[in-house]
Amino acid sequence: LLGLHTGEEVEQVQQQVLQESKEHHDLIQSNFVDCYKNLTIKTMVMLEWLTAHCSSPSYAMKIDSDMFLNVHNLVSMLLNAQKANYMTGLVARGATVLRNPSSKWYLPHDIYAPPQYPRYALGLGYILSLDLPKKLIEASRHVKAVYIEDVYLGLLMQHLGIPPTDPPNWGYFHVIPLAYNRCAFSGIVATTTDPHTNREQIWNDFKKPGPYC
Ligand SMILES: *[C@@H]1O[C@H](CO)[C@@H](O)[C@H](O)[C@H]1NC(C)=O
Repeated sequence: LLGLHTGEEVEQVQQQVLQESKEHHDLIQSNFVDCYKNLTIKTMVMLEWLTAHCSSPSYAMKIDSDMFLNVHNLVSMLLNAQKANYMTGLVARGATVLRNPSSKWYLPHDIYAPPQYPRYALGLGYILSLDLPKKLIEASRHVKAVYIEDVYLGLLMQHLGIPPTDPPNWGYFHVIPLAYNRCAFSGIVATTTDPHTNREQIWNDFKKPGPYC
């Protein structure tokens, strides 16, 4: 899911995106400048897309491109999960609103006054039951947007009165990169990865046959 490139080589990048789309048919592109401050737009595009084109699955997961995902554990977890009003991931509670203008996550009082955020699932990877996109879009008409996309979903969930659910196991989601280890990775759902790791290599090692531990 992506927006538009800006800066240099706009046309070349767009050509490459179209080429990749032709080859793999797995991109959704929308009409906004793709930058950190526009992430909430991206998330709303995702919700609109899910509402319009994705009605038969039970769940959707949003995951950042620098994550490792254990699909098998994800599916096992979801087979035992609530089917509606369900959102899970790494759920933050009572997170402090950052008031220092130099912070990446700065939010001024006039945009959001309370000192803490409601419960929200960190944006690195979260799962929602597919009854939610429509409800979240409706809620977004009543809740002022903030650019921090995961916090905004938390605010929408609060508006709906549906708190995000903790995963059944505390070790399933990692915000601090977990060093690769076949055995450790066989017990998680998702983790951030260190910028220097080769995720393709990890994936190839992980999916080879044989016991994990
Ligand atoms: C977000 O996207 C809109 C639409 O493309 C653009 O006008 C705006 O400048 C972008 N915001 C930032 C912070 O770049």
